[in-house]
Formats: sequence, structure tokens, C-alpha cells
Amino acid sequence: MIGKDRRFKSRAGLPALVAAILLAIQVPAAAQDPAPAPAPAPANHQDDAAKSSAHPKAKAKTKAKGKSRARAKAPARNDPPGFYMGRPIADVMSWEGANWLFRETRIQEEQPEAMLRSLKIPAGATVADVGAGAGYYSIRLARKVGPKGIVYATDLQPEMLRFLQENARAARVKNIKPIRCTQTKTNLPSGAIDLILMVDVYHECTEPDATLHGLLTALKPGGRLVLVEFRAEDPTVPIKPEHKMTLEQVRKEVEPQGFTFKESLEFLPWQHVIIFEKPREAKKSKPAKAREGSDKSITRSS
Ligand SMILES: C[S@@+](CC[C@H](N)C(=O)[O-])C[C@H]1O[C@@H](n2cnc3c(N)ncnc32)[C@H](O)[C@@H]1O
Repeated sequence: MIGKDRRFKSRAGLPALVAAILLAIQVPAAAQDPAPAPAPAPANHQDDAAKSSAHPKAKAKTKAKGKSRARAKAPARNDPPGFYMGRPIADVMSWEGANWLFRETRIQEEQPEAMLRSLKIPAGATVADVGAGAGYYSIRLARKVGPKGIVYATDLQPEMLRFLQENARAARVKNIKPIRCTQTKTNLPSGAIDLILMVDVYHECTEPDATLHGLLTALKPGGRLVLVEFRAEDPTVPIKPEHKMTLEQVRKEVEPQGFTFKESLEFLPWQHVIIFEKPREAKKSKPAKAREGSDKSITRSS
């Protein structure tokens, strides 16, 4: 299902009016934030959503069909449709729920500035916000890397990218490059990125192998992939189970794709901040001698 409030168990099905109220009260919330993001979806977008002929549920059906078709083409896995390595894949969050991404409480829940500070991203860095949505993190990243840095902001949904561009314009941020991607193609430049951030996105990827392969290709050697995911280990985190992940599951899925686990930061109230690195030297380029005999040449941080 695609829905505005589908993540918060307690808020499922709240009417559009509530979203509008949240939007209306977000200015004082943003004022508490050292790097406030602008309002997300201007009124005309809400109108667009209202005019849209498809009822959200009808749309969800269409998307689900599309997903099954994509899965049918994917390399054989042992998982039943809709699962990856034993985990249910969550539905993609629709652009129609973009207001939820700018909810007033998000600053307390996710502490976006503290999270980004913990990554120690230098000014001038080239970063990517993959699954950027309406730009909640892209705009903060853009300020962090400064005018000499660049933020590639990718998303599957053109509507999200449209919101993002409007929000970036309103925030007077000029160093964001929006990129439309697909579930199998990141469309990022190869070997160019210092850090890739995915906040609340990875569990929605229908083709994790292809996505991770694309992200690895896009990173510079030594570049970091950061996944921010709601903790599935904690039953008190009020998010639906398919939108949460355990650290163990994330590592189980990401490490076989060529990433090295570095660390997991656990200071946020609800989320893991899981950091991987692209090895500086590709394993296949290691001298034959080092590979001889065993897996001794494979180094892991843990
Ligand atoms: C829950 S939203 C999070 C948006 C943003 N990261 C934020 O925290 O505000 C998830 C977004 O990821 C996008 N998405 C899902 N799968 C993706 C993929 N494989 N590649 C890029 N974007 C993806 C969706 O279109 C949606 O905009």
C-alpha cells in the first residue's frame, strides 16, 4: 500500500486535513532547527494530488503489479515475491505523502543536524542523497558541503524531485543536482561520490543487489555508504515492521555486495546510522598471491 502516514502505526489513515495542519504549524518547528528546511509541498501540489484521478489505493494496486513484473525479471532468489533475504520489502512511499517527510516532530525524532554532524562531512565534498524525497536531507547536505561541494539527489518519483527542486529554490540552495533513478539504475556518476546517504529508503528497494552494485560503482574508493533505518530490534519504535530493519539484517544484505562495515552509530532515539565503506582496493585487483589458499585476504572491521 502507498500511503501518507503508513509508517506510524498509530497514525495510519489520518485525513488530509491533519497533514494540512502539520504543514501550517511547521514554521515554528523549523525555527528550532539550526538549518531549517523549507515547507515541502506547496498548495498547488496538494491540488494536483486532489485532482489526480487515481485513488491512492488504486494507485497502490498499479504499483504493486509493476513491482511483481520487475521481480519476475530479476535473477532467481530463494525468497518468495516481495521478500529479500528473508525480509519483507516495504512499499515505496508515494509522493502524495510528501508532507509527512516535513512533519513538525521529525526534528525531535531524527535529530537531522546531529546525525549529519556525526558523519563529519567536509566542505567541498561530493555527496549523494539517494531516495531524497522532497529534499529534507538534501538541503541540509547542500549547506554542509557548501558552494564548492555538490549533492546529487536521486529519487524514483519525478513528483518528489519536483518538490525537492522547489524546496531547494526556496532555501536558496544551488548545489543540488536532482537525478531520476530507477530500482535497478542509480544514474549516479561512476567513482565520483565521497558519501552516499539513504535515510529511510533502503528497506523500500525492490532490487537491493542492483541498487547496491550501482552505489558501489558510484563511490570513490574509500567512500562511505550511510544507511539510516528505524530500529527493528526495538518494539517501542512506533513504525510498521516492514519499515524497520535490524543491524544484523542490514549487514547480511550489504556486505556480500562488496562493502566493508565500519560502524553503527546508536545515539538517535529511533534509528540506526549504519556506515559502510567501499574498499580502497577492489578485491579483484588484489595480487593473485594474496588470494591464494584462502579468504585470509578478506579483511573486515568486525
Ligand atoms: C520514506 S521516503 C524518504 C525520503 C527522504 N530520504 C527523507 O528522509 O526525507 C523514501 C523515498 O525513497 C525513494 N526510493 C525508494 N526506493 C528507491 C530506490 N531504489 N532508489 C531511489 N529512491 C528510492 C522513494 O521514492 C521515496 O521518495
